[in-house]
Amino acid sequence: MLELRSVTAGYGRSMVIHNISLEVPLEGAAAIMGHNGAGKTTLLRAAVGLLPVRSGRVLLDGQDVTSYRPNKRVRRGLAYVPQGQQSFGQLTTMENLQLAADGRKRGPVLIDEMLDQFTALRPLLARRAGLLSGGQRQQLSIARALITEPRMLILDEPTEGIQPNVVAEIEQVILNLTRSGGLSVLLVEQHVGFALRSTNRYYVLEAGRITSSGDGGEGAIADVRAAMAV
Ligand SMILES: Nc1ncnc2c1ncn2[C@@H]1O[C@H](COP(=O)(O)OP(=O)(O)O)[C@@H](O)[C@H]1O
Ligand SMILES: [Mg+2]
Repeated sequence: MLELRSVTAGYGRSMVIHNISLEVPLEGAAAIMGHNGAGKTTLLRAAVGLLPVRSGRVLLDGQDVTSYRPNKRVRRGLAYVPQGQQSFGQLTTMENLQLAADGRKRGPVLIDEMLDQFTALRPLLARRAGLLSGGQRQQLSIARALITEPRMLILDEPTEGIQPNVVAEIEQVILNLTRSGGLSVLLVEQHVGFALRSTNRYYVLEAGRITSSGDGGEGAIADVRAAMAV
């Protein structure tokens, strides 16, 4: 489980997020929503340890990891899929998966499990990742993160620039992941419907501050749309 307690962070002297407190439910999912520039990516970077926090604490499974470097947080079960579908464009789909599985005894099994989950990738194993569509690349990025068998998965706008049918697929994957147990998800997302259907807790971020929060689900969609309409 991931918890942020009064986290303030930013770049140089200018702070971007202020006093952020949030909790991702154990084996559940939380969504962070907000307009461009609200500070969503900055918040995730602070949670992952790519950006030092100015004040506040980050806890992972109850343990204070505020001073841990990103790789140490990864060893504690954190996985992060950055915005913009990052994988190695010159390598094939399979090579990208193998790289993520490198050194893991269960590597081949995990790759196979991912290909069962993301069926669209199976026919693309020999294709260079740089030639995949945005949706396929996003699925590859999520698969690579899951191969590390995280307990806490962080996704930054996985549906950005992706066709609606693939958005539905990714939504299904997130639902499957949290329902199968053992994994929590923190999702940054601008599509309110997608975000709330996939999660059981939401936070709206505006200008670096949480301005509303509540339980997720279909019932919250109208409230969040209203909170975000400015
Ligand atoms: N590397 C950086 N250096 C300085 N300012 C940054 C940097 N990255 C983002 N910012 C600023 O922080 C604010 C929030 O950005 P970001 O966290 O990317 O927002 P979001 O993900 O919600 O669109 C913006 O004003 C942006 O200009
Ligand atoms: Mg962002």
